[in-house]
Amino acid sequence: MDRVDESTLKTIIEPFRIKSVEPLRHTTIEERERFLEKAGYNLFQIDAKNILIDLLTDSGTSAMSTEQWAAMMRGDESYAGSESFYRMKRVVQDLMGFKHVIPTHQGRAAERILFTVLCRKGHVVPNNTHFDTTRANIEFTGARAIDLPAPAARDTQARLDFKGNMDVVALEHLIAAEGAANIPLVMLTVTDNSGGGQPVSMENIAAVKRASSRHGIPFYLDACRFAENAWFIRQKEPGYEDWTPKQIAQKMFSYADGCTFSAKKDAFANIGGLLCTNDDRLAMQETNLLILTEGFPTYGGLAGRDLEAIAVGLEEVLDPDYLRYRITSTGYLGRHIADRGVPIVEPPGGHAIYIDAGRMLAHIPKEQFPAQALAVELYRHAGIRSVEIGAVMFGVNAQHELLRLAIPRRVYTQSHIDYVVEAILEVNQRRERIRGLAIESEPPFLRHFSARFRQL
Ligand SMILES: Cc1ncc(COP(=O)(O)O)c(C=O)c1O
Repeated sequence: MDRVDESTLKTIIEPFRIKSVEPLRHTTIEERERFLEKAGYNLFQIDAKNILIDLLTDSGTSAMSTEQWAAMMRGDESYAGSESFYRMKRVVQDLMGFKHVIPTHQGRAAERILFTVLCRKGHVVPNNTHFDTTRANIEFTGARAIDLPAPAARDTQARLDFKGNMDVVALEHLIAAEGAANIPLVMLTVTDNSGGGQPVSMENIAAVKRASSRHGIPFYLDACRFAENAWFIRQKEPGYEDWTPKQIAQKMFSYADGCTFSAKKDAFANIGGLLCTNDDRLAMQETNLLILTEGFPTYGGLAGRDLEAIAVGLEEVLDPDYLRYRITSTGYLGRHIADRGVPIVEPPGGHAIYIDAGRMLAHIPKEQFPAQALAVELYRHAGIRSVEIGAVMFGVNAQHELLRLAIPRRVYTQSHIDYVVEAILEVNQRRERIRGLAIESEPPFLRHFSARFRQL
């Protein structure tokens, strides 16, 4: 199974070659200064054509393979009963094992439908760390979203293996305090995106499942990066070194009663999502809502060709050569900046490197958004776009002031990453000169997308 293990060569290469290229456009510092001012110092508001290296997100930004493009050509665009849906469903069921597979246009649509059906005011939903759309969709129903990261996650510098784990003791306390009847589901995000892209161990998945089912509470995975999580388990959790990534993923899913999934991550698709469950009654309620806003159950807001891309992507992502390259190349960025003094969330996660901006820019108080200030400076200096994961995104719930550098899948080569390393090290050299920001205007939900800032 592990083709490269037999080789004596140590260099881990991109396990693909490039057939089609997209030019990048350089801009000057003066131009970028103007773009920043116009965008209110919010990088979501900057036009993509003015970005050199875009590490805003790994979501929907993957390069698709020749096999995915070929499959898209046979997309069945029938309104009802599309062959593409059944192909996708077979792949999903083989991997995840859920009885009901509901396609949605992206992950948050799955979340919206799930929480609309399950949650109401007075309810509480625990997670290791809720992603921003997950939290917002729960809170929109009137329920509360509670983060229960394992204590190890608090120290960003601790080099421990499974810092994405949930604190199961805290989960038990929460269930005792709130009452099982007020907890419509327990979620676990693999890998833990908002908690530094850190993996969750199989042992922890099993423990969370046990605690949930002891109280009759359904257990869901937010499975966006299930394949990356599976690779970490294979590398770091005793007993799994000889398992294939697919076998590990199947075991992870076997504990869950359902999942939400954004196909824009570990399915290499540019759009798409899934809501899965084993519960017939729930599936019926969800499907009714799906028809209202997303579409008929055999396309759910997607084109037939998108379903084909997801079906192929879900198989490709489990290739050991790909996962080895993926996790190694993210670690390459992390080690090259951390070993030269830039504090990152240790150890490097799967899809992104998170700079601990609170620590790096210790002279900027939290109220002046150090991670946002660092994002602005990195763009100004080198045209690199990153994203703040701190008080702008999560308000008072922010555990840390992080700057996330998310790596799109199969998109950038090592020289792109070397450029990013050089730029970050230069910014770090003159970090004392970076100033904080103040918010000028903000919307009521998900303010990080459109808030405007001014420099202090
Ligand atoms: C952990 C997690 N959950 C949910 C989502 C939402 O998925 P989508 O962007 O497809 O709506 C994301 C997206 O980044 C995510 O990282």
